[in-house]
Amino acid sequence: MKPPCYHEPVLAAQITNFLVLKPGIYIDGTLGGGGHSLAIMKALEMAGFEKNSLLIGIDQDDDALHAAGMKLSSYKERTVLVKGNFSDIRAILGKISHQKGLAGKAVGILLDLGVSSSQIDTPGRGFSYLQKGPLDMRMDRCSSMTAGEIVNTWSERELAGLFFRYGEEPHSRMIARRIVKYRQQTGEVTGTEVLAEIIRSSERDKHKQIKTLSRVFQALRIEVNQELEVLKQALHDSVDCLDYQGRMAVISYHSLEDRIVKSFFVEKSKSDWGPKGVGMREPLSRGVLGLVTRKPIIADENEIQENPRARSAKLRVVENLATGGFHAE
Ligand SMILES: C[S@@+](CC[C@H](N)C(=O)[O-])C[C@H]1O[C@@H](n2cnc3c(N)ncnc32)[C@H](O)[C@@H]1O
Repeated sequence: MKPPCYHEPVLAAQITNFLVLKPGIYIDGTLGGGGHSLAIMKALEMAGFEKNSLLIGIDQDDDALHAAGMKLSSYKERTVLVKGNFSDIRAILGKISHQKGLAGKAVGILLDLGVSSSQIDTPGRGFSYLQKGPLDMRMDRCSSMTAGEIVNTWSERELAGLFFRYGEEPHSRMIARRIVKYRQQTGEVTGTEVLAEIIRSSERDKHKQIKTLSRVFQALRIEVNQELEVLKQALHDSVDCLDYQGRMAVISYHSLEDRIVKSFFVEKSKSDWGPKGVGMREPLSRGVLGLVTRKPIIADENEIQENPRARSAKLRVVENLATGGFHAE
């Protein structure tokens, strides 16, 4: 069997420049093949921080944990890899820091959202409309809901709502109607190839077909993995996990994710100046986050040439300004 292929980590130099400023606990909430984690460990080593640092790598995919374990093998002493969901970041940090007898807050947190190139390129995972595979799309193969269950059991109305909500797909109703009709005629939509054919039949223009396929597959993937819900939870809890002046970097790949990240960061960075016109000298409360990047950082043409996945990446970074007590569980 071919070993899984993880592409170069996106915006890796920028990530290490923004995050690696001092020794301490680093959390990579989306370990994948361990590319970013390796870059962080190397940067810690270069800066002489490695001995006083620990990297906690989280992924919900066993294959990713295996690949990252091999990539990070020379840093075994300073890394802990955990199977889990990044929405449980507080509990995971609490448990590991307790086990290791550490102070318990992180100086750097990274979320590189979405699926990995390895997950997309493995036909058996069912993430790609370009490859024949089962309608699976679970990042965590121990979880119960698959894309096939949604495609084959949801009503036409529910499917249309999903494709519109998470894929922003203009032909969502027509595609849902065709899926349900196909089910009635044949019993079930058996795999990615059949689903892709139904979607193609809803759009004549070949160029538009590709966009429609991406949008519908994206919608299913988001629902199967509850991606937006867990992202909101993780952003919220990560703030509690950050040390004073600790930084969090998030890379998003589509507008639904980026909107959530942007509005959370902006909201948490705002100070409350009370009712308009009162002209207060001090705010009632100060924002708990400082925006390190006012505009998202994007990849340059060289990186995009080398790694096409970087094309849609947007990196946002914030710093924790709150000195409050420890909340990790
Ligand atoms: C874009 S890849 C990360 C690639 C990684 N930065 C690297 O350098 O190889 C995203 C990874 O995060 C994992 N992932 C996505 N959502 C997750 C979640 N809610 N909890 C834990 N892992 C998640 C996926 O399984 C995938 O392996």
